[in-house]
Amino acid sequence: MISGTGRTLKNLLEHIASETLAAEIRMVIASTPHAKGLQYAEQASIPIQIVERQDFESREDFSRSIFHCCDEADIDYVILAGYIKLLEIPDNYKNRVLNIHPSLIPAFSGQGYYGDHVHEAVLRYGAKITGCTVHFVDNEYDRGPVILQRAIDVREDDDVTSLNDRVFELERLVYPEALQLLADGKIKVDGRIVQISK
Ligand code: GRF
Repeated sequence: MISGTGRTLKNLLEHIASETLAAEIRMVIASTPHAKGLQYAEQASIPIQIVERQDFESREDFSRSIFHCCDEADIDYVILAGYIKLLEIPDNYKNRVLNIHPSLIPAFSGQGYYGDHVHEAVLRYGAKITGCTVHFVDNEYDRGPVILQRAIDVREDDDVTSLNDRVFELERLVYPEALQLLADGKIKVDGRIVQISK
């Protein structure tokens, strides 16, 4: 599921093509027809659905429509890839929806923390490390169980652009790694705690 430029989708498609991720992307759902990332779905001939929040009265109805599409496509997991809308996760999708966030959750996360806002906040706070977090998604922004985290140092000469780029370089490796662990059945969830078998 995408909302923006689609770097994450492009990266996952590249990993699938080079066989470093054993997965199939059955469908791309976008929150807007203007999502630039849709070009990658088109290039790869992946079916596209546009589901816009404004077409629904409530978040529940909006989410129902999205997960109905997922049911129809008979998918195993829903991968948020730069998707910015809050969803209501149905019970049968618990621990089947994943996201990657560009900070070390719970720092610099939650409502309003997306894209460059995250990196701006890290720099303004003066944090010395940052990174990215792959997590399961629940009904709050950036709150579900943490699957993987990776950190980098914040450099004195970093600005928002350099931090965004450097964190995204981590994301390129960490998201496919987490998805491959799932595909290999190596991830067990007990409440908030995610255990990864070797
Ligand atoms: C990254 O900040 C990622 O952590 C977050 O969305 C951004 C990537 O969006 N989930 P995109 O793939 O470039 O659209």
